[in-house]
Amino acid sequence: METTLLLVKPDGVQRGLVGTIISKIEQRGLNIVGMKMLSVSNELAEAHYAIHEDKPFYNGLISYITSSPVVAIAWQGNKAVSVLRQVLGSTNPTEANPGTIRGDYAIDIGRNLTHGSDSAENGKIEVNLWFTPEELIEWTRNDSKWIFE
Ligand code: RTP
Ligand code: MG
Repeated sequence: METTLLLVKPDGVQRGLVGTIISKIEQRGLNIVGMKMLSVSNELAEAHYAIHEDKPFYNGLISYITSSPVVAIAWQGNKAVSVLRQVLGSTNPTEANPGTIRGDYAIDIGRNLTHGSDSAENGKIEVNLWFTPEELIEWTRNDSKWIFE
């Protein structure tokens, strides 16, 4: 069982896509174990994107994620990390397959609607960065035996 972090970034919230995005992942079969809306502080944005500190797009990334509220969701399930990233589609929306969130609803790489953790290890680290233990709830979805063999 893996845990992974989804962020619906400011463009996703402003464009009214929160429900659509959650719905696709929920219907795929992952389980919500934490969910909240928040205004992202510079401190949190810098911790989250520390790995990109030296990249040319870093400053734009920090101002984008702090520009307007985001929705953060912790998901759990078998292969949750790769399943989530598959639903989101390629980082660059013009390379994302139709049927994925970025492939259906985004065009620019700097307005690609979502973030998804890129490994099981980072999934754990990021969920713990964005959520306190009290905000995470372990539970079993009633249909889980019909999703996981
Ligand atoms: P994410 O972290 O957002 O789930 O996407 P990712 O792993 O596929 O992409 P990553 O390399 O971690 O990049 C994080 C975010 O930075 C922006 N970006 N801009 N202008 C550029 O070349 C560029 N490259 C990345 C995107 O918003 C990307 O989601
Ligand atoms: Mg990434």
